[in-house]
Amino acid sequence: MLKIKSQDSNIEIGPLLSSSFSEVLTSYKNQNIIIIVDENTHDTCLEYLITSFPSLEKAEVILLPKGEENKVMEVCMQVWNAFTEYGFGRHDLVVNLGGGVVTDMGGFIASIYKRGMDFIHVPTSLLAMVDAAIGGKNGIDLGPFKNQLGTIIKARNVYVDTAFLESLPEQEFYNGYAEMLKYGLIRDAELYTDLKTYQSEKDFNQSKNIEKCIQIKVALADNDLRDKGERMLLNFGHTFGHAIEGYFLQSKPISHGHAVGIGMCAESYISMRRGLLSKDAFEDIQALLVRTYPFLEFNEKAVTGIIALMYNDKKNENGKILSVLINSIGSASFRNELNEVEIQETLRYLSMLSASSN
Ligand SMILES: NC(=O)c1ccc[n+]([C@@H]2O[C@H](COP(=O)([O-])OP(=O)(O)OC[C@H]3O[C@@H](n4cnc5c(N)ncnc54)[C@H](O)[C@@H]3O)[C@@H](O)[C@H]2O)c1
Repeated sequence: MLKIKSQDSNIEIGPLLSSSFSEVLTSYKNQNIIIIVDENTHDTCLEYLITSFPSLEKAEVILLPKGEENKVMEVCMQVWNAFTEYGFGRHDLVVNLGGGVVTDMGGFIASIYKRGMDFIHVPTSLLAMVDAAIGGKNGIDLGPFKNQLGTIIKARNVYVDTAFLESLPEQEFYNGYAEMLKYGLIRDAELYTDLKTYQSEKDFNQSKNIEKCIQIKVALADNDLRDKGERMLLNFGHTFGHAIEGYFLQSKPISHGHAVGIGMCAESYISMRRGLLSKDAFEDIQALLVRTYPFLEFNEKAVTGIIALMYNDKKNENGKILSVLINSIGSASFRNELNEVEIQETLRYLSMLSASSN
């Protein structure tokens, strides 16, 4: 069991049964325990959790509709109303059992209700294990704007047990994989090289690389909880990625990892065009991303729409679109201002890749 102390949060990586989970539950034995799941984790992960920890048999289960399109205020309102009807108090405990949508929204729900209840994350998707459940950001979307509403409050405990990945659909691994590649590209060339060799689901389950990713996120988030400096490196691929994801959210939604995969290619392209990243390194990254993620075509309406969303990005400062760029594989810089012309050129370049990859 690897234990990582992240300021006021404890992260344990290893089998849940050998973790401190049971002990923590005991400390809430006179309180209500609420397990938040979505439709899929209700069917695939909940039984294992409840049968492994009998004290959870009397826990209340809150079922959220699955999917990013449901990471919205209306759903939170329903949950807060249910919490109020059940008479839950601020000393009760919320256990979020699910992917990033459940941990983001469950964390938000718990951190707002009665000015904040304790919550624990038990991430069940690769993406939630390496990213969403770590670092304290909770939130929901507002129309096409991703994570526009939220809080920064850490889960008191995060339990990363890769056994939950057994039921994760194959395509979901690629969402987590995008964030893992991000960690490699911004901080750890060796991790990137190792990730490049992944070929099957078994590879994605490797605890060693999951641990490395969590360590990188914890180090960046702990030094800069409120995202004013180094933590911004974690946005690599996300300036384009969030806007692309937001643009397609209401018409033909694409997954977060897919959008970030395309976004990392975009931001690597700009890094290369600006003479920061070598052509060889860019081509290596591009080849990996193109063979892993289906690239999309952006018509002129999409280019305009994506740029408009980029102007509304939370990461902007003084109306300027900012992005992470990489200098080499494993080294990056943040707060780079992007201009509209290079964004347009980049979106057109990505469209060309889409045409050649299909
Ligand atoms: N808070 C942060 O720092 C942070 C960082 C990165 C991403 N995010 C957020 O995370 C979200 C994406 O997370 P995600 O990719 O996990 O999406 P998700 O929660 O929608 O999970 C993906 C799909 O897998 C299913 N699933 C999850 N675990 C399963 C399991 N073990 N077995 C079977 N099915 C399972 C879910 O029901 C869902 O259908 C986005 O909303 C993104 O904004 C947050």
